[in-house]
Amino acid sequence: MAGQNWTNVDIRVPRPGQGEPVVIEVNPMPAIFLPPTYDWEDHTIRESFPGGHPALINTLIASHMLWRRPCETTKAVGEEFDNFSSTYDEAVEPVYQHFRIFSSVISRINYSKGTILELGSGTGLFGRALVQKMQQITPPESESESSSESGDEAPLSLGPKKKTPQDRSFDLTGIELSKGMADVSQKTGAYRKVHIGTVQSIIPTIGPFDHIVAFSMLYFLTPEDFTMTMVRAFQLARKSLVVSIDKIPDAYNEKLIKSGPPASNMVGHNHLSIMEKMFCNPPPNGWKLANKQQHWGWKSPSMDIEVYLTVYIFERQT
Ligand SMILES: C[S@@+](CC[C@H](N)C(=O)[O-])C[C@H]1O[C@@H](n2cnc3c(N)ncnc32)[C@H](O)[C@@H]1O
Repeated sequence: MAGQNWTNVDIRVPRPGQGEPVVIEVNPMPAIFLPPTYDWEDHTIRESFPGGHPALINTLIASHMLWRRPCETTKAVGEEFDNFSSTYDEAVEPVYQHFRIFSSVISRINYSKGTILELGSGTGLFGRALVQKMQQITPPESESESSSESGDEAPLSLGPKKKTPQDRSFDLTGIELSKGMADVSQKTGAYRKVHIGTVQSIIPTIGPFDHIVAFSMLYFLTPEDFTMTMVRAFQLARKSLVVSIDKIPDAYNEKLIKSGPPASNMVGHNHLSIMEKMFCNPPPNGWKLANKQQHWGWKSPSMDIEVYLTVYIFERQT
């Protein structure tokens, strides 16, 4: 779906030992919006395209938009985060609930030995939390003798900004729009690679990964880009998908717009309803919604507005 036309290819697969599969038709204009009584290509979309027909339409629009010039607003968001990158960690620490959220997600999903993709990886707070948590589970040999014998887990914190000995029990890749933010994350040593660019342009051609996560970044995407990103994430993740959906209040956007540029470029989209309708009721085939929890998420110091978010944990059904 990386900006390609929609095409269906029919392949006849003979019984084992009775010949090779043969392509019998390539149809560049398939009938994909048939009334429910017809069960041809539509069946494939209903059964295997995450989010079904509404998600397909949004994905086609998003794919088409990829051909156009990069969006000016997205560029401006990247510049804002470039400017914010050196002070981001200190600024968010008192107003960001994510350390607790990361901790509970990492306790629930077995990331050990897995490949992980993080969308909008920022300065690498999730990666640093992952390193800390893995070290609590299997402390490096030099630390294991001096570690507490009480069995209590140390709480996760902001984590070191400088390179730590890389925990090789997971393989973490990021996608990040802002080069400034990506540079900070790469210095932590928690990420094997951080792709610099937009999630919507990179995710169609990357992967697969065992696990995919996205924390407080999807609200920067348009509804079409959000849908395409979720569709692709469900297709690419082999074991789990964890996303936080920020419930951006109207008052937040109104204040940003009133402030004018550059703040007005940072308006957010509230994707809760798309998320529920397309991806939760029911979840895509082969997936279960293992956990869904609302949290107080963060407070914008400049706008003085609090934002709640819902963390969705999807797991592949075995
Ligand atoms: C609020 S920060 C959250 C960063 C990180 N996930 C965390 O929890 O600390 C949002 C991040 O998403 C990035 N971002 C925004 N739009 C993006 C896009 N279209 N593609 C990739 N990254 C994007 C921003 O540059 C920023 O680093």
